[in-house]
Amino acid sequence: MKFSFLQKLGGAVLVTAWVLWGSHMIGESLIPRAQPPQSTGAAVVAKAKTSAPAKQAAPEEIEDIGALLASASPDAGKKTFKKCKACHTIGKGEASKVGPNLWDVVGADRAARDGFKYSAAMAGLGGNWGFEELNAFLTKPKAYAPGTKMAFAGIKKAADRAAVIVFLRGQSDAPVSLP
Ligand code: HEC
Repeated sequence: MKFSFLQKLGGAVLVTAWVLWGSHMIGESLIPRAQPPQSTGAAVVAKAKTSAPAKQAAPEEIEDIGALLASASPDAGKKTFKKCKACHTIGKGEASKVGPNLWDVVGADRAARDGFKYSAAMAGLGGNWGFEELNAFLTKPKAYAPGTKMAFAGIKKAADRAAVIVFLRGQSDAPVSLP
């Protein structure tokens, strides 16, 4: 079979084109495409933006429960106090258990129950158990008094804390007045 000059030329062009295209594809698959710089920059910014709110949420706010105390029910607090009963007695003159007896604790000096061995963390607090102090402590005992031996996670809901504090307030011969 004989090829004309034009057929040969056409064949040569086709083969060259095919070889060029083939090597281009191979080259492309071997060398990873460089990312345009803007898109990686944008990805970093986007990442920074999404992680920012988590950082802002870190410092825990302990809300003021003054208003909640006024409307809190001591009966609801008595129910919540069941969580505390594993470690605390509440009756007047009752002996301490794992935790100190809590009769008349609202307004009382801190870490002052006779015969109870407090942790250094609790003994070092000083002052007395006002409403705000109890609210902060019961939110997260380990955060309020790092090193405390009260192994209790805390009461998350402010309304539940208010109720238990109002219940504790009533466990006294002379309850302190509400704030
Ligand atoms: C797992 C046992 C445990 C539970 C549950 C527990 N406590 Fe305590 N509590 C303790 C211990 C132990 C201490 C003494 C902490 C120290 O010395 O660091 C303490 C201390 C306290 C104090 C300080 C008393 C003082 O004399 O200064 C208060 C107030 C208190 N607890 C309230 C509560 C309330 C309210 C609850 C329930 C919501 C509760 N606790 C649940 C073990 C517990």
